[in-house]
Amino acid sequence: MEKEIVKVGMLGMGTVGGGVAELLKRNSRQIEEKTETEFSLVKILVRDPSKQRSVDLEDYILTSDPDDIIEDPSISVVIEVIGGIEPAREYISRALQNGKYVITANKDLMATHGEELLKVARENKRNIFYEGSVGGGIPIIRPLRHSLVADQVKRIVGIVNGTTNYILTKMVEDDISFEEALSRARELGFAEADPSNDIEGLDASYKLIIMSGLAFGCNIDPSQVYVEGIGAVTREDIAYAREIGYVIKLVAIGEMLPEGLALRVHPTLVSAEHPLASVSNEFNAIFVEGDAVGEVMFYGRGAGALPTASAVLADMAEALRCIRRQAVNGFIEIAKKEIPLLSINRLNSRFYLRFLADDRPGVFAALANAFGDEDVSLDMVIQKRRVNSTAEIVLVTHMVEEDAFNRALEKVVSLPAIRPNPSKFRLLG
Ligand SMILES: NC(=O)c1ccc[n+]([C@@H]2O[C@H](COP(=O)([O-])OP(=O)(O)OC[C@H]3O[C@@H](n4cnc5c(N)ncnc54)[C@H](OP(=O)(O)O)[C@@H]3O)[C@@H](O)[C@H]2O)c1
Repeated sequence: MEKEIVKVGMLGMGTVGGGVAELLKRNSRQIEEKTETEFSLVKILVRDPSKQRSVDLEDYILTSDPDDIIEDPSISVVIEVIGGIEPAREYISRALQNGKYVITANKDLMATHGEELLKVARENKRNIFYEGSVGGGIPIIRPLRHSLVADQVKRIVGIVNGTTNYILTKMVEDDISFEEALSRARELGFAEADPSNDIEGLDASYKLIIMSGLAFGCNIDPSQVYVEGIGAVTREDIAYAREIGYVIKLVAIGEMLPEGLALRVHPTLVSAEHPLASVSNEFNAIFVEGDAVGEVMFYGRGAGALPTASAVLADMAEALRCIRRQAVNGFIEIAKKEIPLLSINRLNSRFYLRFLADDRPGVFAALANAFGDEDVSLDMVIQKRRVNSTAEIVLVTHMVEEDAFNRALEKVVSLPAIRPNPSKFRLLG
């Protein structure tokens, strides 16, 4: 009897797809040995089959018709690396309905339509694997799905966007502006032509949603996650942060509090002593705190062709094992709980504030009153540089509810001696 070869189709042949093709050339044999399954990547969907590709594609058939893969009954596994919501959502949904296993690295799609697609997978006794959607090559989805299943996760804290981490690292190391660091990131391929999803924190929020769905077992509405990007981080803030022993990072935080779940992404002052402070350039790191395991950290390259291909092909191996064992679908996690998401206004943080004030008597007394009225107590105050008869004031508060801090801030900026547009950031922990 002829030995069965599992046929794989791939949707997309850009950065990640190219990485998958390259890694397959190197390590196909090893994957076959480890899964005890022979497989073959037989067709690849692209928009433009005539385009020059970085990988030698002589063995593969390129097509611009998605049905050549989705409707081909001989293909059992589909890898989706075209990105975006549509048509990726429709293609994945149809592939599952046609009895195929699906692998995707698409965080936008899994964060916004993951629940719907997992249901389609379950209804069709298949599965969808998405390790590459968070942290590139860092294994984080599988640990959250399997390894930490006995723990109650209390907190996830991570640097999960390589572009913004690269920009913030360069701003610190080379004392350059946000704009200069962004253009350097673009030149080196660490930022896309349109980097707004990264800069504005959306990409990190999608990854936080995917991790939190698994860790806290709930379905999350993306519009309820607090998201603030790094566009307002200045060289001055980075210098002051350094002076007081902190670095500014874009941090994604998911916390299970007694009142509900708090999910947020924002630029954050991280103590130089904290392990996240030394996560530099395009690297990512994620801390997960469980009630039994304590704190575990995942660290590595959060994006890029080969790191992401490593995660995608690990998922493909899992699909091959499911097919080999004729396990119907492996394990599918469908959100079980509705957990209220807490508004940022109800969360407690320490705050960093920097503003300019007229250099005249009575300013500090007025400031003390504004903060005192709202029970905001100050941990640190620095008054240093003077620019055109103004004083620059930097202060750090003790832990305070966001709402109370904002009320105090409103009073502060309404004082005649205070210049508008202060810089405000939260501290970690
Ligand atoms: N890049 C990374 O480091 C990274 C890391 C983790 C996860 N991801 C995720 O991986 C996915 C792919 O990212 P990427 O960076 O590889 O994207 P990319 O470089 O833009 O490649 C996209 C590929 O999909 C094809 N494509 C796009 N829309 C199509 C359509 N409607 N019909 C047919 N083909 C279509 C393109 O065809 P043409 O080549 O003909 O234009 C191209 O080959 C995204 O979901 C992304 O978020 C990327």
